[in-house]
Amino acid sequence: MEHQQLHQLWTQRRGRATTSTLLGLVLLFSSAMIVLVSSQTQDGALNSSDPILVNLTLVKNAKETGALCLDGTPPGYHFLKGFDSGTDNWLIHIEGGAWCSDVQSCNERKDTALGSSKLMEHQVPFTGILSNLPSDNPDFFNWNKVKVRYCDGASFSGDVKGAKKNGTTLYYRGERIWKAVMEELLHKGLATAKKALLTGCSAGGLATYIHCDDFKALLPNVETVKCMADGGFFLDVKDISGKRYIHDFFSDVVHLQDVGKRFPNCISKMDATKCFFPEEIIKSINTPVFILNSAYDSWQIRNVLAPPSSDPSNLWTNCTSNINKCNSNQMKVLEGFRATLLDNISDVKQKKDWGTFIASCFVHCQSIYQITWHTPYYQRINNKTIAESVGDWYFDRREVKVVDCSYPCNPTCVSDGS
Ligand SMILES: *[C@@H]1O[C@H](CO)[C@@H](O)[C@H](O)[C@H]1NC(C)=O
Ligand SMILES: *[C@@H]1O[C@H](CO)[C@@H](O)[C@H](O)[C@H]1NC(C)=O
Ligand SMILES: *[C@@H]1O[C@H](CO)[C@@H](O)[C@H](O)[C@H]1NC(C)=O
Ligand SMILES: *[C@@H]1O[C@H](CO)[C@@H](O)[C@H](O)[C@H]1NC(C)=O
Ligand SMILES: *[C@@H]1O[C@H](CO)[C@@H](O)[C@H](O)[C@H]1NC(C)=O
Repeated sequence: MEHQQLHQLWTQRRGRATTSTLLGLVLLFSSAMIVLVSSQTQDGALNSSDPILVNLTLVKNAKETGALCLDGTPPGYHFLKGFDSGTDNWLIHIEGGAWCSDVQSCNERKDTALGSSKLMEHQVPFTGILSNLPSDNPDFFNWNKVKVRYCDGASFSGDVKGAKKNGTTLYYRGERIWKAVMEELLHKGLATAKKALLTGCSAGGLATYIHCDDFKALLPNVETVKCMADGGFFLDVKDISGKRYIHDFFSDVVHLQDVGKRFPNCISKMDATKCFFPEEIIKSINTPVFILNSAYDSWQIRNVLAPPSSDPSNLWTNCTSNINKCNSNQMKVLEGFRATLLDNISDVKQKKDWGTFIASCFVHCQSIYQITWHTPYYQRINNKTIAESVGDWYFDRREVKVVDCSYPCNPTCVSDGS
């Protein structure tokens, strides 16, 4: 779809509840979206200007510490300095981008920006929780902000020596990348921060759960350290054909990159693969966590619940492309998925410092896109945007343990289906 068409679609619907159909398109074309959102400035619909572009920094001691992307290049991050009252506060966002599960898929991945810093964009736009504009990001706009690039293929949690396979060497060093990046940021001012927030989306949301307590441990003198995981609560559910598709996939990732050894307590009690799922990880996290996730996470519905390989007759294709097109049996399966998610986070109610925002919109990754993070049009629960809810939780302005009613009850995300 052309940017212009998207723009038209957006303009037509401006003033009405933004639809999940539109959002789905927008998330597919996230680069288009930036154009879209910023182009609203002309007619004053959104109080945004072009997002700031932030340069890539490569980690300096990558060779010495063995902190390497899949292809052996140094890892990188984008750093935007804080200002005014945000000078001493730090927000670290971990990039997502699924996983590779075998030599072949990691080998293919190493020829992309998710496996090599040679191929990473030198500048990326900072939007949503990374925006530097108070209108777009009311609580964190002036903080020091870092987007850590994902290039290890296993949510920053593997650590094995590069193995020569099929003529190419692959490095599985996510754990070292995490440490090397944090080491560099500590020297740039993170060590003397007053407030800090670790966040990330999708595979980066999983990395946020995995590294939350590590982050806290690195910052003994920081007064407030919290973590917010976005779209990272992957569920170990059976798919529509009865297969444990995501379990088998995660099992391959875990064994390829020897991820189990970073969960020493967990693997003494159960299989290493299970230890890689947030439902187990959160049991041992001591740092306050905010769980931001849709109960109908579009990525999980497409890739965990109804992966194409389990739907050879394409009976689910309409439903996975647009939740409005799910039939009643499919909606029952989706409701079951939602119920499993809610069961798994039910203990959070008792954790005083934790928070939740379990939306019912058909989305994935809500903190990094302006439209889902904080706009007048999209997705509120109790009339609060996600940005306001996360801010209220971080700054202890109120307790935020929000679970939206089930689809399609929330008009701020219901699609009109057209
Ligand atoms: C970012 O990189 C560009 C060149 O790619 C350079 O001109 C610019 O000065 C850099 N900005 C900062 C803040 O370092
Ligand atoms: C190994 O290399 C051969 C030839 O280059 C290729 O056909 C095959 O798919 C590769 N196997 C893996 C596991 O990468
Ligand atoms: C948590 O989710 C898993 C699937 O990921 C499910 O098998 C299990 O029953 C759930 N646990 C609770 C306590 O709800
Ligand atoms: C999917 O939608 C198309 C167009 O609306 C329809 O023709 C088709 O029958 C649907 N497929 C299924 C499996 O329901
Ligand atoms: C919802 O919040 C907005 C500002 O964020 C406010 O203008 C509006 O009046 C609120 N609506 C309700 C029904 O409280």
